[in-house]
Amino acid sequence: MSTTILVVDDEKNIRRSLRMVLDGEGFDVLTAESAEEGLEVAREELPDLVLMDIRLPQMSGIEAMEVLLKERPGLPIIVISGHASVSEAVAAVQKGAVDFFEKPLDRERVLISVRNALKRGALEQELAHLREESDRRYEMIGDSPVMKDLFSKIEKVAPTSGRVLITGESGTGKELIARAIHKLSLRNQKPFIKVNCAAIPAELIESELFGHERGSFTGAHAQRKGFFEQADGGTLFLDEIGDMSLSAQAKVLRALQNGEVSRVGSGKVISVDVRVLAATNKDLEQEVQNGTFREDLFFRLNVVPIQSPRLEARREDIPQLVRSFLEEIGRDFGGTKAIDADALDGLTRRAWPGNVRELRNVVERMNILSGPRITLSDLPDAPTQKAHPGGPDLPATLIDGRPMTLREYRESAERAYILASLEEHGWVIARAAEKLGLERTNLHKKLKSHGIERPE
Ligand SMILES: Nc1ncnc2c1ncn2[C@@H]1O[C@H](COP(=O)(O)OP(=O)(O)OP(=O)(O)O)[C@@H](O)[C@H]1O
Ligand SMILES: [Mg+2]
Repeated sequence: MSTTILVVDDEKNIRRSLRMVLDGEGFDVLTAESAEEGLEVAREELPDLVLMDIRLPQMSGIEAMEVLLKERPGLPIIVISGHASVSEAVAAVQKGAVDFFEKPLDRERVLISVRNALKRGALEQELAHLREESDRRYEMIGDSPVMKDLFSKIEKVAPTSGRVLITGESGTGKELIARAIHKLSLRNQKPFIKVNCAAIPAELIESELFGHERGSFTGAHAQRKGFFEQADGGTLFLDEIGDMSLSAQAKVLRALQNGEVSRVGSGKVISVDVRVLAATNKDLEQEVQNGTFREDLFFRLNVVPIQSPRLEARREDIPQLVRSFLEEIGRDFGGTKAIDADALDGLTRRAWPGNVRELRNVVERMNILSGPRITLSDLPDAPTQKAHPGGPDLPATLIDGRPMTLREYRESAERAYILASLEEHGWVIARAAEKLGLERTNLHKKLKSHGIERPE
């Protein structure tokens, strides 16, 4: 793809000489004689770079630049100034121009500046793209009452520097909550550092969190900044904090109390400004009772508790979640698949012990395995649940987030058993009926009452 550069200048000579220089370097050059014309051309041709004279007959080059930057943030613009307008050029750079050059133009100076500006423009575009992608990836979906409560809590706590302890089952979105708090905080231009406390071996956690000096232990070949220092000015997210060893807990406590850390192997104290968010799927109060979590650390972390709701407590969000996952997957697969209403309904009613993470996995799997549309028959079997730990597997026992009545349970178990027998016998009704100890006509009646149809 060729690179297009727009030159806006009312002097014919300047337009001509810039065109010559830039043409010679293989750029596509467009020209305009006034700011107004320049805006028009820029809107139509979407140039990669604009060279803009400051003094133009009506609208000034600086005004035009401001309009363009509003329409296309990140578009590189270089301003061209005459002798009389050097101070205006400096002001233009403060307002967002990437560079300026003075007349008379110097060929080398022009080319260097143009190349730098194009490189910078490409980088900014890539960055904007990455930001957008990451925003989308970490966007929290849902407008059920439970989620609305959650959002308003996040908005309240975000701009403070208060510590937040996020609890909730696995796969409910605890990490998304932590990222949302950071994003809405005054620290959002500074780093968000996530530490998975469960994944770091106990003997390494101290050096990971606080850093080390070279040679402080075997394997410490170079000096290293710890996560606390890396997060300075920003947010440190201690994920799975319930899995941290007691000795590491003691060190984190000290860091939280004093806002100071020191690297392993160094006596030097470094003060850090870090907001700490923590998450766990364990019941920390219980861990405190058991003596596996320090009570003082628990109180330090739990300034604002936030509970991440189970998916089954917000079933009404499931259709929206499913659609958004399908769209996201579709972007990578070149097209979003549609889903039948009864399939969506099935997903909405099902048990979700693995919460949103499980829903996402199921949607991904269905998207791969289904035909052009996702239908009811693409739904995986309902997950089994234990009636009590160590007890036998049961089919799902929840419906709409509440325990089923015995009657509902009997119905759903019957349905599942019939379906399984049909699958087993390749949908030959006579054989399935024999196995189930039913007359064929009776099995037909059951199929009808359960709304079971043979998949294509
Ligand atoms: N409200 C939501 N909207 C969209 N996606 C969500 C939502 N909640 C969770 N997810 C998705 O579900 C998955 C699990 O979320 P996340 O990793 O935040 O869960 P978690 O609570 O930290 O789980 P674990 O305890 O297992 O670490 C991610 O892919 C996340 O993007
Ligand atoms: Mg997590």
